[in-house]
Amino acid sequence: MSTSSVPTPTPADKFSFGLWTIGYNGADPFGGPTRPALDVVHGVEKIAELGAYGLTFHDDDLFAFGSTDAERQKQIDRLKGVLADTGVIVPMVTTNLFSAPVFKDGGFTSNDRQVRRFALRKVLRNVDLAAELGAKTFVMWGGREGAEYDAAKDVRAALERYREAVNLLGDYVTDKGYDIRFAIEPKPNEPRGDILLPTVGHALAFIESLERPELVGVNPEVGHEQMAGLNFAAGIAQALYHGKLYHIDLNGQRGIKYDQDLVFGHGDLHNAFALVDLLENGGPNGGPSYEGPRHFDYKPSRTEDESGVWDSASANMRTYLMLKERAAAFRADPEVQEALAAAKVPELSTPTLNAGESYNDLLADKSAYEDFDASAYFGAKGFGFVRLQQLATEHLLGARS
Ligand code: GCO
Ligand code: MN
Ligand code: MN
Repeated sequence: MSTSSVPTPTPADKFSFGLWTIGYNGADPFGGPTRPALDVVHGVEKIAELGAYGLTFHDDDLFAFGSTDAERQKQIDRLKGVLADTGVIVPMVTTNLFSAPVFKDGGFTSNDRQVRRFALRKVLRNVDLAAELGAKTFVMWGGREGAEYDAAKDVRAALERYREAVNLLGDYVTDKGYDIRFAIEPKPNEPRGDILLPTVGHALAFIESLERPELVGVNPEVGHEQMAGLNFAAGIAQALYHGKLYHIDLNGQRGIKYDQDLVFGHGDLHNAFALVDLLENGGPNGGPSYEGPRHFDYKPSRTEDESGVWDSASANMRTYLMLKERAAAFRADPEVQEALAAAKVPELSTPTLNAGESYNDLLADKSAYEDFDASAYFGAKGFGFVRLQQLATEHLLGARS
């Protein structure tokens, strides 16, 4: 008989789920649905029961594309009802500019100007809904903003149209007095052969070109950076460094392949550990470096029935909380502290120059060059990074507490 010491999620943990995640019916390019549609009321009741605090959605998740005003309003009212009954909130809203045929060449950056104008109207309408529901973040994932063929897309013109769209949205929320910020979600490919703003770094550079950069940050997704072969925790560290981590999509991915959207931790577990450690313990005084929702953007595998859907939703939260516990134990371990110091990890925070030191002072400092023994680094002065990583591994595997 086994016992479990997995922590129980509570609303204070700020876990949120996309309606499209728990609502994924299993359809993929090779086969249709394996599960019936999920009703939003049931979905919210279930995530509340499991300990989540938030639901997020695309407009089209809640009311089908092309719904009449009455159908749309009916679904909004049903959502509001279940939010009031359960205490679940909507921290983030996003717009679907990728499923309908009209968006086959993108929304904000379609070559067809009429489509771009339609896309902007769809987003503005959804921004009003986000404000009405009290969402503080509006995510923009440009899944169809891209191309398969180099000759088919003028990338500089596309970036200029993307910029025009985001500038307009910035004007809109400012004029309306909405307390909403935007978060761009990078992805390298899928569904397009190549997607614009493919990584966190591309998005950060783009944001600085905007008229209101303070209103726009990033919503990085674990698997999307890993599809590009990048280190997700390192990308998050850079987003934090620039003050741009406005939201996050947690999930799992195994290597450079199609977007798997696995449960958080069911991919690169070491990197998930580093990520949770950064989010929870990477703040100025060792506290959290990110206060926003811990949002899961995963897909319950199409092999699962409804009970498997809720088990997998729960698995995301349980894994996050286990990693949080392990990361706290890692930070509190005196041997880890000693290994960090031996590896000179804290020393990187000391500026390379003394206060007020100029390049002339540096040039005059013989200890920095003439008297410095660079040869002492051959065969000695190892950093001990492997020992540190093994300590992390032993904490991760629960062999130390
Ligand atoms: C993906 C994406 C999407 C977006 C979502 C938000 O898996 O490719 O993560 O799920 O996050 O559409 O707009
Ligand atoms: Mn994804
Ligand atoms: Mn996502």
